Amino acid sequence: MSQKRVLFSLVAILVIAATLLAACQPAATQQAATQPAASGEKLAVGIVLPTKDEPRWIQDETRFKEALSAAGYQVEILFSQGSSAKEKENVKALLTKGIKVLIICPQDGTAAAAAVEEARKAGVKVISYDRLIRDTDAVDYYVTFDSIAVGAQQAQYLVDNATGKGNPLYLYAGAASDNNAFIFFEGAWGVLQPKIADGTFVIKNSSEAVALQDKPKLTRDEMARIIGQVTTNWDFNTAKNLAEANLTATTAADKGTVYILAPNDGTARAIADAFAADKDVTKYYVTGQDAEKASVQYILDGKQSMTVFKDVRTLVKDAISAAVALLEGKAPAAKGSYNNGKIDVPAIQSPVVTVDKNNVKEALIDSGYYSASDFTGLQ
Ligand code: GAL
Repeated sequence: MSQKRVLFSLVAILVIAATLLAACQPAATQQAATQPAASGEKLAVGIVLPTKDEPRWIQDETRFKEALSAAGYQVEILFSQGSSAKEKENVKALLTKGIKVLIICPQDGTAAAAAVEEARKAGVKVISYDRLIRDTDAVDYYVTFDSIAVGAQQAQYLVDNATGKGNPLYLYAGAASDNNAFIFFEGAWGVLQPKIADGTFVIKNSSEAVALQDKPKLTRDEMARIIGQVTTNWDFNTAKNLAEANLTATTAADKGTVYILAPNDGTARAIADAFAADKDVTKYYVTGQDAEKASVQYILDGKQSMTVFKDVRTLVKDAISAAVALLEGKAPAAKGSYNNGKIDVPAIQSPVVTVDKNNVKEALIDSGYYSASDFTGLQ
């Protein structure tokens, strides 16, 4: 992104933030959109994120704080620490504090339905953030990235780097409780399946995937069967243990140059470490997602092949715009919808970008997303 565009985006975020903040004040204390609020003023929006233990969600926290506290307001951001019970407590606590809009990324998409139904009962508008809350009508809006494209870009990277036939393919997925894990897998399968069918790849670590390998399109239940075998649960240690178990179960003939679909950066590093330690693996290609700093460094060091960059600044901006609209009693601008099993939730989705060592500097440093001093080996 050019410097001009970066500046424009920042100005846009601040203007939206200021508008939101003004909209959240009682009429008598409303401030001009350009005038910062008195430090520490309360905002009628509450944010709940899944866990502090994954750098992805720290990125979101940081970007929310940047966008909102710059204008002098305090926004409460609570973390659920991987627990749906804690998530529900967090929502209750925010409801008690009088929020009018809840921005929530669910720990478990289905379990979160109960929490947002309480919010709905209290007259609070609900924005499902990044992950879709399922099987309830108590969701007003969904802000997300193009998750089909995430999986498709990961898969395309593997395809682009494969030559000949019979290349060993190892599949890994996210948590089955996260709707995104299905969408990422669906996107990846759409690109990989024809290349499995034509013999370019041979699946090595999932009998369920092998049983379904002739099907171009899988049902949710079919995907659940595969995900059940190759889930990382979005957890570093689970991913590492699973990769090690897979490498133990396969032979030297299943190794050599291998292709690994890893669903995100945390699991990519874990899986990459396991494959790097296997003497029969001579070269590996491994995908990722989130452009976590540790993975950017892995890419620079040649230990992770790619990541899918999701510009969290955009997601935060979209969530804030939606909150503004909802606070003003308007419907947020939607470009399509996502079915959550019960209703079609109006949604807006942002594009994603494939990043590997060739464009890492341009995409992540020159764009102002990270600073060069966070990394070593940048050229
Ligand atoms: C997904 C999210 C990803 C990834 C993952 C693990 O829902 O879209 O960016 O971080 O969760 O937390």
